[in-house]
Amino acid sequence: MNSIKKDLFVMSHIKKSDFPNDFIWGTATAAYQIEGAWDKDGKGESIWDRFCHEEGNILNNDTGDIACDHYHRWEEDLDLLKKYNIENYRLSIAWARIYPKGTGEINPAGVDFYNNLIDGMIERGITPWITIYHWDLPQALQDRGGWTNREIVNWFKDYTATLIKLFGDRVKNWMIYNEPSVQAWLGYGLGFNAPGLKGEENYLKALHHINLSIAEGYRVAKAMLPDGYIGSSYTLVPTPPESDADRDVADNMFGFWNTNHFDPLFKGEYPKAIREQISQYMKDGDHELIKVDLDFVGIQHYSTIYAKMDNKNGLFGTFFGKPPADVKLTDIGWEINGSYFGDIISWFSDNYNLKQKNQDIIITENGAAFFDELNESGECDDQHRIDYLEEYLLSVKNCIDNNIPLKGYFIWSLLDNFEWAEGYKMRFGLVHVDYKSLVRTPKKSIKWFKGFLE
Ligand code: GAL
Repeated sequence: MNSIKKDLFVMSHIKKSDFPNDFIWGTATAAYQIEGAWDKDGKGESIWDRFCHEEGNILNNDTGDIACDHYHRWEEDLDLLKKYNIENYRLSIAWARIYPKGTGEINPAGVDFYNNLIDGMIERGITPWITIYHWDLPQALQDRGGWTNREIVNWFKDYTATLIKLFGDRVKNWMIYNEPSVQAWLGYGLGFNAPGLKGEENYLKALHHINLSIAEGYRVAKAMLPDGYIGSSYTLVPTPPESDADRDVADNMFGFWNTNHFDPLFKGEYPKAIREQISQYMKDGDHELIKVDLDFVGIQHYSTIYAKMDNKNGLFGTFFGKPPADVKLTDIGWEINGSYFGDIISWFSDNYNLKQKNQDIIITENGAAFFDELNESGECDDQHRIDYLEEYLLSVKNCIDNNIPLKGYFIWSLLDNFEWAEGYKMRFGLVHVDYKSLVRTPKKSIKWFKGFLE
């Protein structure tokens, strides 16, 4: 679509009726980013608790100790979903709330919390979508090597089976893992995220054990819940070189974000660039194990990420580059360009034959960060977020028109929340959260979304 036509379309405003009737609409959050109560009622320490409590890791030394205090305010948050007609809600479970030490004894208070939350959603007519793992590994398991220890595949299978047993009677929609790329690359390769490990060996081990855990976790969950709708969520990101000199590393960057996960999932093999190095951490039969047919593939996308050659800071000589000077950016510095989103979904669908396979795809996260503030009347006018969402939704619609099997879309995020190494500065929410008073103020965008859903 040329840009004039595209602008006209956005001006005429994208509508729910532009999408199939059974398209799934929702919003998403994750446990560590909203719950707080980090050590309450028997919860164990997670790698994010440990990482935040070490000075210098997080902007302003912010922590998720309190976050949005969702642990105590969950009813108010579910009421917001109901009030704004949001019928699907994606949340994650904190592994260390269920198993404080990662394995062994279950913590009954943690189970109660999620039982109440799930029942509260169902009472309000909201469908739960649960992410089994959104980066908050129990520290006790990290002390045994975390994702670098192959034993984690068994720990993860046990944890998955426990969740399905506890909640599978009421929850049918599950995501096994959130963004394995970020966990492996930023957590174990570059050390920007918890647990802060670095280096190629840590990265490659974590990468392989995560890919194994996703496939094995799926098999466990599906065997226990044959009528479940079980997928896993991945980043999908274009990674052009920052300049001509960076061309050679753009493929590595594409691997970190995309193919190091999707090639194993769909083809049972790793991309050529890492095939030899990763083989030393593989066992016979692993190629068959890492390939699996998920019920749906969750896709998460925010922006293009540029690649830069950098042997000092990078991994495999590859580091984050900068976007061109003349592009539109969100306040976190991420480029806004909805048509790149459409392009990368099309690449994904074509490269892995997803139309032919009729593979369900759900956008499990998309959204934008701005420094939203309340005005004098106590309101938050985040028109920039509405513009972003309309632009990206237009690309989703174009992909559907092009027969790509996209089935749903979740906005990140319901609430402003703890944005990992960026602390609380970045606000992604449809609802503003005052981190001192913990008061929630619906922004203009959630009112727009309600209107859109009507
Ligand atoms: C994703 C992540 C979310 C959220 C979002 C915005 O990578 O799954 O937890 O932080 O990015 O950066």
